[in-house]
Amino acid sequence: MSIVKRVAVTGAAGQIGYSLLPLIANGGIFGPNVKVVLQLLEVTPVLAALNGVRMELEDCAFPLLTDIVCSDDPKVAFKNADLCLLVGSKPRGPGQERKDLLQDNGKIFIGQGRAIAEVAGPDVRVVVVGNPCNTNCLIAMKNAKGVPADRFTAMTRLDQNRAKAQLALKAKKHWSTVKNVTIWGNHSNTQYPDWHHATIDGTAAATAINDEAWLQGPFMKTVQERGKAIIEARGKSSALSAAQAACDHARSLYTVTTNADWASLCVLSDGTYGTPEGLISGFPCTTDGKGNWQIVKGLAMNDFSKQKAAITWKELTDERDMVKDLLG
Ligand code: NAD
Ligand code: LMR
Repeated sequence: MSIVKRVAVTGAAGQIGYSLLPLIANGGIFGPNVKVVLQLLEVTPVLAALNGVRMELEDCAFPLLTDIVCSDDPKVAFKNADLCLLVGSKPRGPGQERKDLLQDNGKIFIGQGRAIAEVAGPDVRVVVVGNPCNTNCLIAMKNAKGVPADRFTAMTRLDQNRAKAQLALKAKKHWSTVKNVTIWGNHSNTQYPDWHHATIDGTAAATAINDEAWLQGPFMKTVQERGKAIIEARGKSSALSAAQAACDHARSLYTVTTNADWASLCVLSDGTYGTPEGLISGFPCTTDGKGNWQIVKGLAMNDFSKQKAAITWKELTDERDMVKDLLG
């Protein structure tokens, strides 16, 4: 019997959706032997544009794509879903921080969390991309009564990919040789891109780079501010790289990820490393290939790392306080 996975994507007619849907339909998450049904959600005024996306998906004749559902009703889009990619929400513009979107975007994740609890498949996984993704994920998780909290993750994979690329460029090595970069905390400009356990072509990143001032300064700042730099350059927020990262994040859940190169996932904090409990925060994670993750334990954190992590955890705590009325 052939396997079919139902993948719900919200904001499917948006920029990220346009780059993400072909990746999913081509097996980018579940591999070349798993068929997929795309269940696409948009707001009512955008359904006509979504129908255009549907036509284009049909015209691609993807071998793995068996059906396309388009709707403005979350209960239709999330019906029996195995995986929900929550992208649909407003992006920031020039001069804004991601948390400025909380007022407009936060409430979207109340109804979507409830709908997931009501109609999604029994083994559903949820990945939140829409910003501010950590706190939106917390809102969805808290409103999805009955769905285990560990099914919810938010995306910091784009930051992890960015950090790997910057380290590789500096070391003049290919980015595929960079392993074990961690993004701690929030997908925001307080995030802490941590190179202390990273290797580049088998050598400790700090040794390969041999420039601590660059690591603590320009490297961190470039990764923290990359989203803003792209908005300034393109006039729109990242889409191609965001779609690739969403695909990478979801694929990490469904393939085995080990300590040889962990995945940075934003997951529910359990106090490990001194994180305040109950936040959706970036951690180094391994995965079992069945949708389950574990925080990598026992990594040494020096004073610099502890100080930078504390800053981003404080911001997440403040964001949680801002939305306490939305937390179910
Ligand atoms: P976009 O404006 O191009 O598309 C968003 C789409 O979502 C629109 O088509 C809109 O109609 C739809 N939408 C809005 N509210 C919705 C709802 N309630 N239900 C379903 N659909 C809804 O934006 P984009 O560039 O695709 O970005 C989407 C989100 O992803 C933004 O919040 C952006 O900041 C975020 N983002 C996150 C990361 C990350 O690393 N976590 C990276 C890039 C972008
Ligand atoms: C990014 O990191 O590119 C996205 O979160 C979009 C943004 O607002 O920066």
